Amino acid sequence: MQVIKTAAKMKEASTHLKKSQKSVGYVPTMGYLHEGHLSLVEKAKRENDIVVMSIFVNPLQFGPGEDFDSYPRDVNRDIQLAEEAGVELLFLPSAAEMYRENHAVSVSVNGRTDVLCGRTRPGHFDGVATVLTKLFSIIAPDKAYFGMKDAQQVAVVDALIHDFFMDVELVASKTIREKDGLAKSSRNINLSPIERDQAPYIYQSLQAGAAMIEQGERDPKAVISAVLAHLEAAGGNVEYVECYSYPELKKQDVLSGKIIIAAAVKYSKARLIDNIVLTIS
Ligand code: PAJ
Repeated sequence: MQVIKTAAKMKEASTHLKKSQKSVGYVPTMGYLHEGHLSLVEKAKRENDIVVMSIFVNPLQFGPGEDFDSYPRDVNRDIQLAEEAGVELLFLPSAAEMYRENHAVSVSVNGRTDVLCGRTRPGHFDGVATVLTKLFSIIAPDKAYFGMKDAQQVAVVDALIHDFFMDVELVASKTIREKDGLAKSSRNINLSPIERDQAPYIYQSLQAGAAMIEQGERDPKAVISAVLAHLEAAGGNVEYVECYSYPELKKQDVLSGKIIIAAAVKYSKARLIDNIVLTIS
């Protein structure tokens, strides 16, 4: 595995790959890799000649008072895990290069962000869209791999690629979970032992909501109240439970088609999110 630290070297490598007609699958991450990230690598390996991963804790997508400083980092461990997973090129850009002092342009996301994490983390998706625009432009992948754990991020990237006519195919992949159902997340390490025992109730609560829909409930308010009631067992502070069409993220009075039920819960040192996307036929 080759580790690349500058945009110029990464561009050189991707130009070379294009010339040799190798298809490139790209997995953007913020590191502290776990099986969720590695499942994206596995999928990318099956579908492309070469897999590029980036690790960059993007300061622009963290708001004031959020966990940029305490976000877990362990580059040496990540390098080893990426290599074992079969990543061919690992891009580790610096914040100094990604956000040069005189950088003048950033991306502003106007739709799909007035709900869920977009409402509680203003500017977050602008930061995500800006860094991905830079990374896509440096790496020029054929396909880019994202986890449905961050379903709103997938919806925003889908719009970014479409609205900017980007030449990259978005591949969305299922959420990888611990045995007890908790979605794998780099942030789980920041849970206290008690919180770690409570956190699996987030997914169980969402499943209770999904079961109601499967049994015929079509009122989003009823589903949300039931999820909220179940969430009491999850401890923490519930930031939101919401239900929308997916990926448009529009409110529905009567649930129909492809929908998302999503929740965010704040613990003492970690904020966790999870969701279920299902299609009502
Ligand atoms: P990060 O949180 O490191 O996640 C990188 C990718 O891994 C995302 O696409 C995320 O959805 C996926 N992922 C995380 N946990 C997962 C799980 N349990 N199962 C499946 N996939 C999972 O998301 C980001 O980084 C950043 O916002 C980024 C896209 C890199 C832009 O900075």
